[in-house]
Amino acid sequence: MSGTIIVGGFFGDEGKGKIVAHVANKDKAAIIARGGVGPNAGHTINVNDTKYVVRMVPSGFLYPPAQLMIGSGVLVDPRVFAHELDLLKCSGRTKIDGRCGVIEPEHIQLDKTDPNLSKKVGSTGSGCGPANSDRVMRRSRLARDVPELAPYITDVAEDVNAALDEDKSVIIEGTQGFGISLYYGNYPYTTSKDTSASQMAADVGVGPTRIDDVIVVFKAFPTRVGEGPFPTELTHEQSISLGIQEFGAVTHRERRIGTWDGEMARYSAMINGCTSIALTGIDHIDKSVYAATKYSELTPKALKFIETVENDTKKPVGIISTGPDQSHIIDIRDEL
Ligand code: IMP
Ligand code: MG
Repeated sequence: MSGTIIVGGFFGDEGKGKIVAHVANKDKAAIIARGGVGPNAGHTINVNDTKYVVRMVPSGFLYPPAQLMIGSGVLVDPRVFAHELDLLKCSGRTKIDGRCGVIEPEHIQLDKTDPNLSKKVGSTGSGCGPANSDRVMRRSRLARDVPELAPYITDVAEDVNAALDEDKSVIIEGTQGFGISLYYGNYPYTTSKDTSASQMAADVGVGPTRIDDVIVVFKAFPTRVGEGPFPTELTHEQSISLGIQEFGAVTHRERRIGTWDGEMARYSAMINGCTSIALTGIDHIDKSVYAATKYSELTPKALKFIETVENDTKKPVGIISTGPDQSHIIDIRDEL
């Protein structure tokens, strides 16, 4: 039983939602606690023919025994939160920390109209940057000040640390990706907070000594939404000819697509304190491994790619996602 952090290694949208849902099931998580910025994130999970996109509730909602929590470092938009509880029918097991900062309609308005945020940075327009700014100015409302949120308030740090004391399995779900970290990404083309594993632990109130595993999720073909440098970016024609086209879960903007960036992966694995890698989109490297569920089904081409990832990062690949559905996955963490 353990404390596991799951974070995005590139620019976000690596498929963390699916990996979190998988690890929650496999490791029988008692708590899945979300860190990260706020509802600028969109985590997509496909089960059979149903597609879920969550922006506030942790992606582990698909594992019913787990408690779902939002840590004090995460911004809460009460409207998005209420909508998701309703949609996912998980209000009985979802809690938020009373110290979460609150996103107000004015924050969204400012995020969408400020030229620096909306045009230069290309923000998601969800109000996160202006809300974090108000928090730093110490004038924002907190979740505990919002009557509608009262039934859901808890001390997430207390609950998560108590579960770890009882040797239960806790997953800390990161959002966004390493490349858009306010501290380590390509400033100013970043989100409004750090996005590394240490930040996720701090967001839910867990100290670094309590973490056993940090799973960094990398996409075989990284993507980026919004502005900013992207050294391995493909042209639109190139990505289409590879059969890859993606749209943002929150903004529906078309994502920019690039090829594997070994140097970025190395740096990201280092700062995240990676213990193992979850690699998604390997079916784009070799279409014949689509939907594979066993390591023995991987082709020489797919295996060679995994070797490249391991050589670049010096970390083992423990989970391989072979397609969009929740069932399209290979997990060899027990053999590492
Ligand atoms: P903001 O976080 O909405 O201020 O947006 C700042 C930058 O981060 C923009 O380029 C966004 O597209 C990007 N961004 C923020 N959250 C995510 C995410 O969850 N996935 C991918 N990109 C994101
Ligand atoms: Mg996303």
